[in-house]
Amino acid sequence: MAIAPNSPAARDIAYALHPYTNLEQHQKEGSLIVKGGKGVYIYDDTGREYLEGLAGLWSTSLGWGEDRLVDAATKAMRQLPYYHQFGAKAHEPGIDLAERLIKMAPVPFSKAFFTNSGSEANDTAIKIIWYYNAVLGRSQKKKIISRLRAYHGVTLATASLTGLPHLHKYFGLPIGEVKHTSCPHYYRNAHPGETEEDFATRMAADLEKLILEEGPDTIAAMFAEPIMGAGGVLLPPRTYFEKIQAVLKKYDILFVADEVICGFYRTGNVWGSETYGLKPDILTCAKALSSSYLPVAGVLISEPIFQALAKGSAEVGNWGHGYTYSGHPVACAVALETLNIYEERDILGHVRKMAPVLQNGIRRFADHPMVGEVRGTGLIGAVELVKDKATKTSFDPKQFVGAYLAKRAQAHGLITRAMGDHLGFCPPLIITAEQIEELLRRFKLALDDTHEWVQEQGWM
Ligand SMILES: Cc1ncc(COP(=O)(O)O)c(C=O)c1O
Repeated sequence: MAIAPNSPAARDIAYALHPYTNLEQHQKEGSLIVKGGKGVYIYDDTGREYLEGLAGLWSTSLGWGEDRLVDAATKAMRQLPYYHQFGAKAHEPGIDLAERLIKMAPVPFSKAFFTNSGSEANDTAIKIIWYYNAVLGRSQKKKIISRLRAYHGVTLATASLTGLPHLHKYFGLPIGEVKHTSCPHYYRNAHPGETEEDFATRMAADLEKLILEEGPDTIAAMFAEPIMGAGGVLLPPRTYFEKIQAVLKKYDILFVADEVICGFYRTGNVWGSETYGLKPDILTCAKALSSSYLPVAGVLISEPIFQALAKGSAEVGNWGHGYTYSGHPVACAVALETLNIYEERDILGHVRKMAPVLQNGIRRFADHPMVGEVRGTGLIGAVELVKDKATKTSFDPKQFVGAYLAKRAQAHGLITRAMGDHLGFCPPLIITAEQIEELLRRFKLALDDTHEWVQEQGWM
Protein backbone atom coordinates (compact mmCIF):
# COMPACT_ATOMS: atom_id res chain seq x y z
CA MET A 1 0.00 0.00 0.00
CA ALA A 2 1.27 3.48 -0.87
CA ILE A 3 2.28 5.59 2.11
CA ALA A 4 0.70 9.05 1.96
CA PRO A 5 3.09 11.99 2.42
CA ASN A 6 3.02 13.46 5.90
CA SER A 7 0.87 10.60 7.23
CA PRO A 8 1.89 9.05 10.59
CA ALA A 9 3.39 6.15 8.60
CA ALA A 10 5.49 8.53 6.48
CA ARG A 11 6.66 10.48 9.56
CA ASP A 12 7.51 7.20 11.30
CA ILE A 13 9.74 6.28 8.37
CA ALA A 14 11.29 9.74 8.36
CA TYR A 15 12.06 10.13 12.06
CA ALA A 16 11.86 6.93 14.15
CA LEU A 17 14.67 4.46 14.74
CA HIS A 18 13.01 1.15 15.64
CA PRO A 19 14.39 -1.46 18.03
CA TYR A 20 14.85 -5.00 16.68
CA THR A 21 13.77 -3.99 13.18
CA ASN A 22 15.21 -4.56 9.71
CA LEU A 23 15.83 -0.84 9.19
CA GLU A 24 16.24 -0.97 5.41
CA GLN A 25 12.98 -2.86 5.06
CA HIS A 26 11.27 -0.43 7.44
CA GLN A 27 12.33 2.49 5.24
CA LYS A 28 10.36 0.85 2.40
CA GLU A 29 7.42 -0.71 4.21
CA GLY A 30 6.91 1.33 7.39
CA SER A 31 5.30 0.13 10.60
CA LEU A 32 2.05 -1.28 11.86
CA ILE A 33 0.68 1.72 13.72
CA VAL A 34 -1.16 0.64 16.84
CA LYS A 35 -3.91 2.94 18.09
CA GLY A 36 -5.52 1.11 20.99
CA GLY A 37 -6.43 -2.17 22.60
CA LYS A 38 -9.07 -4.01 24.57
CA GLY A 39 -8.51 -7.28 26.40
CA VAL A 40 -6.34 -9.57 24.26
CA TYR A 41 -6.89 -7.46 21.11
CA ILE A 42 -5.07 -4.44 19.70
CA TYR A 43 -6.30 -2.15 16.89
CA ASP A 44 -4.34 -0.42 14.16
CA ASP A 45 -4.92 3.06 12.76
CA THR A 46 -7.45 1.73 10.26
CA GLY A 47 -9.45 0.06 13.04
CA ARG A 48 -8.31 -3.44 12.13
CA GLU A 49 -8.23 -5.92 15.05
CA TYR A 50 -5.33 -8.24 15.92
CA LEU A 51 -5.18 -10.92 18.61
CA GLU A 52 -1.98 -10.18 20.55
CA GLY A 53 -0.46 -13.66 20.78
CA LEU A 54 2.67 -12.38 22.51
CA ALA A 55 1.10 -9.99 25.04
CA GLY A 56 3.15 -7.16 23.53
CA LEU A 57 6.66 -8.27 24.46
CA TRP A 58 5.71 -11.28 26.67
CA SER A 59 4.44 -8.74 29.12
CA THR A 60 0.93 -7.25 29.02
CA SER A 61 -0.44 -9.98 31.26
CA LEU A 62 -3.77 -8.30 32.01
CA GLY A 63 -4.35 -7.26 28.41
CA TRP A 64 -5.34 -3.80 27.18
CA GLY A 65 -7.88 -1.40 28.67
CA GLU A 66 -7.58 -2.42 32.34
CA ASP A 67 -9.18 0.61 34.01
CA ARG A 68 -8.03 -0.29 37.50
CA LEU A 69 -4.41 0.21 36.42
CA VAL A 70 -5.28 3.53 34.80
CA ASP A 71 -7.04 4.62 38.02
CA ALA A 72 -4.10 3.48 40.19
CA ALA A 73 -1.74 5.53 38.04
CA THR A 74 -3.99 8.60 38.12
CA LYS A 75 -4.36 8.44 41.90
CA ALA A 76 -0.64 7.97 42.46
CA MET A 77 0.20 10.75 40.01
CA ARG A 78 -2.02 13.15 41.99
CA GLN A 79 -0.60 12.05 45.34
CA LEU A 80 3.12 12.05 44.49
CA PRO A 81 3.98 12.28 40.79
CA TYR A 82 7.66 11.82 41.49
CA TYR A 83 10.10 11.22 44.21
CA HIS A 84 13.33 9.29 44.29
CA GLN A 85 14.85 6.81 46.71
CA PHE A 86 18.41 8.19 46.87
CA GLY A 87 20.01 9.17 50.19
CA ALA A 88 17.47 7.30 52.36
CA LYS A 89 14.33 8.85 50.92
CA ALA A 90 11.25 6.66 50.61
CA HIS A 91 7.56 6.69 49.69
CA GLU A 92 4.76 4.29 50.43
CA PRO A 93 4.30 2.75 46.95
CA GLY A 94 8.03 1.88 46.92
CA ILE A 95 7.94 0.48 50.45
CA ASP A 96 4.76 -1.53 49.80
CA LEU A 97 6.06 -3.00 46.55
CA ALA A 98 9.38 -4.04 48.11
CA GLU A 99 7.57 -5.78 50.97
CA ARG A 100 5.08 -7.42 48.63
CA LEU A 101 7.79 -8.85 46.35
CA ILE A 102 9.97 -10.09 49.21
CA LYS A 103 6.94 -11.83 50.75
CA MET A 104 5.84 -13.49 47.51
CA ALA A 105 9.33 -14.53 46.34
CA PRO A 106 10.05 -18.21 45.70
CA VAL A 107 12.93 -18.34 48.23
CA PRO A 108 13.85 -16.10 51.19
CA PHE A 109 15.28 -12.78 50.04
CA SER A 110 16.34 -9.79 52.09
CA LYS A 111 15.83 -6.64 50.00
CA ALA A 112 14.23 -5.41 46.76
CA PHE A 113 15.71 -2.77 44.45
CA PHE A 114 13.80 -1.22 41.54
CA THR A 115 14.83 -0.34 38.01
CA ASN A 116 12.92 0.65 34.86
CA SER A 117 13.60 -2.39 32.71
CA GLY A 118 14.66 -6.00 32.73
CA SER A 119 18.00 -5.00 31.21
CA GLU A 120 18.68 -2.56 34.02
CA ALA A 121 17.62 -5.16 36.57
CA ASN A 122 20.12 -7.70 35.22
CA ASP A 123 22.80 -5.03 34.80
CA THR A 124 22.24 -4.04 38.43
CA ALA A 125 22.50 -7.70 39.45
CA ILE A 126 25.92 -7.92 37.79
CA LYS A 127 27.13 -4.78 39.58
CA ILE A 128 25.81 -6.12 42.90
CA ILE A 129 27.66 -9.38 42.34
CA TRP A 130 30.92 -7.57 41.55
CA TYR A 131 30.51 -5.34 44.60
CA TYR A 132 29.73 -8.34 46.84
CA ASN A 133 32.85 -10.23 45.78
CA ALA A 134 35.05 -7.13 46.03
CA VAL A 135 33.83 -6.46 49.59
CA LEU A 136 34.61 -10.10 50.42
CA GLY A 137 38.15 -9.46 49.20
CA ARG A 138 37.95 -11.52 46.03
CA SER A 139 37.70 -8.96 43.22
CA GLN A 140 39.11 -11.49 40.75
CA LYS A 141 35.89 -13.57 41.08
CA LYS A 142 34.18 -11.55 38.38
CA LYS A 143 33.28 -13.61 35.32
CA ILE A 144 29.62 -14.27 34.65
CA ILE A 145 28.32 -17.39 32.93
CA SER A 146 25.28 -17.35 30.71
CA ARG A 147 23.96 -19.75 28.10
CA LEU A 148 23.96 -19.74 24.32
CA ARG A 149 20.50 -18.52 23.16
CA ALA A 150 19.85 -16.83 26.53
CA TYR A 151 18.21 -13.39 26.60
CA HIS A 152 19.02 -11.06 29.45
CA GLY A 153 18.80 -7.59 27.91
CA VAL A 154 20.57 -5.01 25.78
CA THR A 155 22.90 -2.92 27.97
CA LEU A 156 26.62 -3.49 27.37
CA ALA A 157 26.78 -6.14 30.08
CA THR A 158 23.38 -7.74 29.59
CA ALA A 159 23.62 -7.84 25.79
CA SER A 160 26.88 -9.68 26.48
CA LEU A 161 25.01 -12.18 28.67
CA THR A 162 22.47 -12.64 25.90
CA GLY A 163 23.61 -15.57 23.81
CA LEU A 164 22.23 -14.46 20.44
CA PRO A 165 24.63 -13.45 17.63
CA HIS A 166 22.62 -10.45 16.35
CA LEU A 167 23.09 -8.71 19.72
CA HIS A 168 26.86 -9.01 19.39
CA LYS A 169 27.76 -8.58 15.72
CA TYR A 170 28.89 -5.01 14.89
CA PHE A 171 28.41 -3.99 18.55
CA GLY A 172 31.83 -5.32 19.58
CA LEU A 173 30.29 -7.60 22.21
CA PRO A 174 30.34 -9.68 24.35
CA ILE A 175 32.56 -8.08 26.99
CA GLY A 176 35.39 -10.26 28.25
CA GLU A 177 33.88 -11.04 31.65
CA VAL A 178 31.01 -13.00 30.10
CA LYS A 179 31.34 -16.69 29.18
CA HIS A 180 28.65 -18.76 27.49
CA THR A 181 27.92 -22.38 28.27
CA SER A 182 25.86 -24.87 26.22
CA CYS A 183 22.23 -24.33 25.34
CA PRO A 184 20.02 -26.98 26.98
CA HIS A 185 17.64 -27.42 24.06
CA TYR A 186 17.00 -31.15 24.02
CA TYR A 187 15.37 -31.37 20.57
CA ARG A 188 18.28 -29.59 18.86
CA ASN A 189 21.30 -30.45 20.95
CA ALA A 190 20.80 -33.94 22.40
CA HIS A 191 22.84 -36.76 20.90
CA PRO A 192 20.90 -39.54 19.15
CA GLY A 193 19.45 -41.87 21.78
CA GLU A 194 20.42 -39.60 24.69
CA THR A 195 17.68 -39.39 27.38
CA GLU A 196 16.65 -36.01 28.75
CA GLU A 197 18.31 -36.87 32.06
CA ASP A 198 21.56 -37.87 30.34
CA PHE A 199 21.44 -34.72 28.26
CA ALA A 200 21.01 -32.66 31.46
CA THR A 201 23.99 -34.47 32.99
CA ARG A 202 26.06 -33.58 29.92
CA MET A 203 24.95 -29.92 30.12
CA ALA A 204 26.08 -29.82 33.78
CA ALA A 205 29.39 -31.45 32.79
CA ASP A 206 29.88 -28.78 30.08
CA LEU A 207 29.30 -26.11 32.72
CA GLU A 208 31.80 -27.69 35.10
CA LYS A 209 34.36 -27.97 32.30
CA LEU A 210 34.00 -24.26 31.51
CA ILE A 211 34.37 -23.35 35.20
CA LEU A 212 37.51 -25.46 35.52
CA GLU A 213 39.02 -24.08 32.30
CA GLU A 214 38.43 -20.48 33.41
CA GLY A 215 39.36 -21.17 37.05
CA PRO A 216 36.60 -21.40 39.69
CA ASP A 217 38.14 -18.46 41.60
CA THR A 218 37.39 -16.21 38.61
CA ILE A 219 33.71 -17.15 38.20
CA ALA A 220 31.24 -15.01 40.14
CA ALA A 221 27.80 -16.05 38.96
CA MET A 222 25.58 -17.75 36.46
CA PHE A 223 22.41 -16.21 35.02
CA ALA A 224 19.50 -18.31 33.73
CA GLU A 225 15.91 -17.85 32.66
CA PRO A 226 13.71 -20.72 33.93
CA ILE A 227 12.42 -20.99 30.34
CA MET A 228 14.59 -19.28 27.71
CA GLY A 229 12.09 -16.92 26.13
CA ALA A 230 13.50 -14.84 23.29
CA GLY A 231 15.94 -17.64 22.45
CA GLY A 232 12.90 -19.58 21.19
CA VAL A 233 10.92 -20.71 24.28
CA LEU A 234 13.37 -23.43 25.24
CA LEU A 235 12.29 -25.51 28.22
CA PRO A 236 14.90 -27.00 30.54
CA PRO A 237 15.29 -30.77 30.18
CA ARG A 238 14.29 -32.89 33.20
CA THR A 239 16.79 -32.65 36.13
CA TYR A 240 18.70 -29.79 34.42
CA PHE A 241 18.48 -27.11 37.09
CA GLU A 242 19.08 -29.59 39.90
CA LYS A 243 22.36 -30.62 38.23
CA ILE A 244 23.42 -27.09 37.23
CA GLN A 245 22.82 -25.75 40.73
CA ALA A 246 24.88 -28.56 42.28
CA VAL A 247 27.85 -27.54 40.11
CA LEU A 248 27.46 -23.87 41.05
CA LYS A 249 27.30 -24.73 44.76
CA LYS A 250 30.44 -26.83 44.48
CA TYR A 251 32.45 -23.83 43.24
CA ASP A 252 30.80 -21.12 45.36
CA ILE A 253 29.18 -19.43 42.34
CA LEU A 254 26.06 -17.28 42.77
CA PHE A 255 22.92 -18.12 40.82
CA VAL A 256 20.66 -15.46 39.30
CA ALA A 257 17.16 -16.39 38.13
CA ASP A 258 15.99 -14.05 35.37
CA GLU A 259 12.21 -14.17 35.86
CA VAL A 260 11.57 -11.25 33.50
CA ILE A 261 9.28 -13.40 31.30
CA CYS A 262 8.49 -16.36 33.58
CA GLY A 263 7.60 -14.41 36.72
CA PHE A 264 3.96 -13.74 37.68
CA TYR A 265 2.11 -16.91 36.70
CA ARG A 266 3.34 -17.41 33.12
CA THR A 267 4.47 -21.02 33.69
CA GLY A 268 1.48 -22.06 35.83
CA ASN A 269 3.08 -21.05 39.14
CA VAL A 270 3.82 -17.60 40.50
CA TRP A 271 7.47 -18.04 39.49
CA GLY A 272 9.27 -20.11 36.90
CA SER A 273 11.69 -20.90 39.74
CA GLU A 274 8.89 -22.86 41.43
CA THR A 275 8.04 -24.73 38.23
CA TYR A 276 11.65 -25.84 37.72
CA GLY A 277 13.16 -25.89 41.24
CA LEU A 278 15.50 -22.88 41.00
CA LYS A 279 16.93 -21.60 44.30
CA PRO A 280 18.53 -18.30 43.26
CA ASP A 281 20.68 -15.89 45.29
CA ILE A 282 19.31 -13.03 43.18
CA LEU A 283 16.04 -12.82 41.24
CA THR A 284 15.17 -10.26 38.59
CA CYS A 285 11.65 -9.54 37.39
CA ALA A 286 9.89 -6.97 35.16
CA LYS A 287 7.24 -7.01 32.41
CA ALA A 288 4.15 -8.62 34.05
CA LEU A 289 5.09 -6.93 37.36
CA SER A 290 3.03 -3.97 36.12
CA SER A 291 1.37 -5.72 33.18
CA SER A 292 3.77 -3.36 31.34
CA TYR A 293 1.43 -0.41 31.89
CA LEU A 294 4.42 1.49 33.26
CA PRO A 295 8.13 0.65 33.22
CA VAL A 296 9.20 -1.04 36.47
CA ALA A 297 11.47 -3.99 37.25
CA GLY A 298 12.85 -5.55 40.41
CA VAL A 299 16.06 -7.08 41.75
CA LEU A 300 15.69 -9.25 44.86
CA ILE A 301 18.84 -10.10 46.80
CA SER A 302 19.70 -12.53 49.59
CA GLU A 303 20.75 -11.48 53.10
CA PRO A 304 24.49 -12.32 52.73
CA ILE A 305 24.61 -10.19 49.58
CA PHE A 306 22.83 -7.33 51.34
CA GLN A 307 25.29 -7.55 54.24
CA ALA A 308 28.23 -7.14 51.85
CA LEU A 309 26.59 -4.12 50.16
CA ALA A 310 25.91 -2.58 53.56
CA LYS A 311 29.51 -3.09 54.68
CA GLY A 312 30.98 -1.63 51.47
CA SER A 313 28.61 1.35 51.51
CA ALA A 314 29.50 2.18 55.13
CA GLU A 315 33.16 2.26 54.19
CA VAL A 316 32.75 4.26 50.94
CA GLY A 317 30.02 6.57 52.23
CA ASN A 318 27.13 5.22 50.19
CA TRP A 319 26.20 2.40 47.83
CA GLY A 320 26.93 4.17 44.56
CA HIS A 321 24.16 2.86 42.35
CA GLY A 322 20.62 3.95 41.48
CA TYR A 323 18.52 5.44 38.68
CA THR A 324 16.60 8.71 38.75
CA TYR A 325 13.51 6.57 38.26
CA SER A 326 14.39 3.68 40.64
CA GLY A 327 11.13 2.89 42.41
CA HIS A 328 9.13 5.59 40.61
CA PRO A 329 6.05 6.04 42.84
CA VAL A 330 3.52 5.92 39.99
CA ALA A 331 5.06 2.78 38.47
CA CYS A 332 5.19 1.13 41.92
CA ALA A 333 1.51 1.97 42.52
CA VAL A 334 0.57 0.41 39.17
CA ALA A 335 2.64 -2.69 39.98
CA LEU A 336 0.90 -3.05 43.36
CA GLU A 337 -2.52 -2.80 41.71
CA THR A 338 -1.44 -5.39 39.12
CA LEU A 339 -0.49 -7.79 41.93
CA ASN A 340 -3.86 -7.08 43.63
CA ILE A 341 -5.73 -7.93 40.44
CA TYR A 342 -3.77 -11.19 40.01
CA GLU A 343 -4.88 -12.30 43.46
CA GLU A 344 -8.44 -11.01 43.44
CA ARG A 345 -9.19 -12.56 40.05
CA ASP A 346 -7.32 -15.78 40.81
CA ILE A 347 -5.14 -15.38 37.71
CA LEU A 348 -3.14 -18.41 38.86
CA GLY A 349 -6.27 -20.60 38.76
CA HIS A 350 -7.19 -19.16 35.36
CA VAL A 351 -3.71 -19.80 33.90
CA ARG A 352 -3.86 -23.39 35.14
CA LYS A 353 -7.27 -23.85 33.47
CA MET A 354 -6.19 -22.30 30.17
CA ALA A 355 -2.76 -23.95 30.00
CA PRO A 356 -4.02 -27.31 28.67
CA VAL A 357 -6.15 -25.51 26.06
CA LEU A 358 -3.10 -23.69 24.68
CA GLN A 359 -0.66 -26.57 25.13
CA ASN A 360 -2.92 -29.22 23.57
CA GLY A 361 -3.90 -26.73 20.88
CA ILE A 362 -0.37 -25.93 19.70
CA ARG A 363 0.50 -29.64 19.79
CA ARG A 364 -2.09 -30.15 17.05
CA PHE A 365 0.52 -28.50 14.75
CA ALA A 366 3.05 -31.24 15.50
CA ASP A 367 1.86 -33.25 12.47
CA HIS A 368 2.30 -30.35 10.07
CA PRO A 369 5.04 -31.12 7.49
CA MET A 370 6.92 -27.92 8.35
CA VAL A 371 6.82 -28.23 12.16
CA GLY A 372 9.81 -29.86 13.84
CA GLU A 373 9.00 -29.34 17.49
CA VAL A 374 6.12 -27.95 19.51
CA ARG A 375 6.94 -27.07 23.10
CA GLY A 376 5.67 -25.06 26.04
CA THR A 377 4.08 -25.04 29.45
CA GLY A 378 1.56 -22.84 31.21
CA LEU A 379 0.67 -19.99 28.85
CA ILE A 380 3.94 -19.90 26.95
CA GLY A 381 4.95 -22.03 23.98
CA ALA A 382 6.58 -22.16 20.56
CA VAL A 383 6.56 -23.98 17.26
CA GLU A 384 9.90 -24.60 15.54
CA LEU A 385 9.85 -24.76 11.75
CA VAL A 386 12.00 -27.22 9.82
CA LYS A 387 12.61 -28.02 6.19
CA ASP A 388 12.81 -31.74 6.91
CA LYS A 389 11.07 -33.27 9.92
CA ALA A 390 12.93 -36.57 9.82
CA THR A 391 16.42 -35.06 9.83
CA LYS A 392 15.41 -31.89 11.78
CA THR A 393 17.11 -29.84 9.05
CA SER A 394 16.39 -26.13 9.45
CA PHE A 395 15.72 -23.66 6.66
CA ASP A 396 18.57 -21.40 5.59
CA PRO A 397 18.34 -18.46 8.04
CA LYS A 398 18.68 -16.10 5.06
CA GLN A 399 15.33 -17.37 3.73
CA PHE A 400 13.59 -15.73 6.73
CA VAL A 401 10.82 -18.32 6.80
CA GLY A 402 9.83 -17.53 10.41
CA ALA A 403 9.60 -13.83 9.62
CA TYR A 404 7.39 -14.62 6.62
CA LEU A 405 5.08 -16.68 8.83
CA ALA A 406 4.83 -13.86 11.40
CA LYS A 407 3.86 -11.50 8.56
CA ARG A 408 1.21 -13.88 7.29
CA ALA A 409 -0.09 -14.23 10.86
CA GLN A 410 -0.37 -10.44 11.06
CA ALA A 411 -2.30 -10.47 7.76
CA HIS A 412 -4.68 -12.98 9.37
CA GLY A 413 -5.09 -10.81 12.47
CA LEU A 414 -2.62 -12.46 14.82
CA ILE A 415 0.50 -10.95 16.34
CA THR A 416 3.18 -13.53 17.06
CA ARG A 417 6.97 -13.28 17.23
CA ALA A 418 9.48 -14.97 14.98
CA MET A 419 12.74 -15.74 16.73
CA GLY A 420 14.47 -17.06 13.64
CA ASP A 421 12.24 -20.01 12.73
CA HIS A 422 10.80 -20.37 16.25
CA LEU A 423 7.34 -18.80 16.51
CA GLY A 424 6.32 -17.83 20.04
CA PHE A 425 2.99 -17.91 21.86
CA CYS A 426 2.66 -15.91 25.06
CA PRO A 427 -0.82 -14.36 25.14
CA PRO A 428 -2.15 -12.12 27.91
CA LEU A 429 -2.89 -14.30 30.97
CA ILE A 430 -6.55 -13.25 30.83
CA ILE A 431 -7.12 -15.04 27.50
CA THR A 432 -10.21 -17.28 27.33
CA ALA A 433 -10.55 -20.77 25.82
CA GLU A 434 -12.48 -19.35 22.83
CA GLN A 435 -9.79 -16.75 22.22
CA ILE A 436 -7.09 -19.43 22.36
CA GLU A 437 -9.00 -21.37 19.68
CA GLU A 438 -9.15 -18.19 17.59
CA LEU A 439 -5.41 -17.69 18.03
CA LEU A 440 -4.79 -21.26 16.87
CA ARG A 441 -7.11 -20.87 13.90
CA ARG A 442 -5.32 -17.73 12.70
CA PHE A 443 -1.92 -19.33 13.26
CA LYS A 444 -2.92 -22.36 11.18
CA LEU A 445 -3.87 -20.09 8.25
CA ALA A 446 -0.45 -18.43 8.44
CA LEU A 447 1.32 -21.78 8.73
CA ASP A 448 -0.46 -23.12 5.64
CA ASP A 449 0.27 -19.94 3.66
CA THR A 450 3.93 -20.22 4.61
CA HIS A 451 4.06 -23.89 3.66
CA GLU A 452 2.66 -23.05 0.24
CA TRP A 453 5.15 -20.18 -0.22
CA VAL A 454 8.11 -22.33 0.82
CA GLN A 455 7.06 -24.97 -1.72
CA GLU A 456 6.68 -22.32 -4.42
CA GLN A 457 10.21 -21.15 -3.67
CA GLY A 458 11.41 -24.77 -4.07
CA TRP A 459 12.87 -24.85 -0.55
CA MET A 460 10.92 -27.94 0.52
C1 LIG B 1 14.36 -12.97 30.15
C2 LIG B 1 14.55 -11.51 29.85
N1 LIG B 1 15.42 -10.82 30.56
C3 LIG B 1 15.63 -9.51 30.35
C4 LIG B 1 14.95 -8.84 29.37
C5 LIG B 1 15.23 -7.39 29.11
O1 LIG B 1 14.16 -6.63 29.54
P1 LIG B 1 13.93 -5.14 28.96
O2 LIG B 1 13.56 -5.28 27.54
O3 LIG B 1 12.81 -4.63 29.85
O4 LIG B 1 15.18 -4.40 29.18
C6 LIG B 1 14.01 -9.53 28.61
C7 LIG B 1 13.25 -8.83 27.54
O5 LIG B 1 12.56 -9.43 26.75
C8 LIG B 1 13.81 -10.89 28.84
O6 LIG B 1 12.96 -11.60 28.11
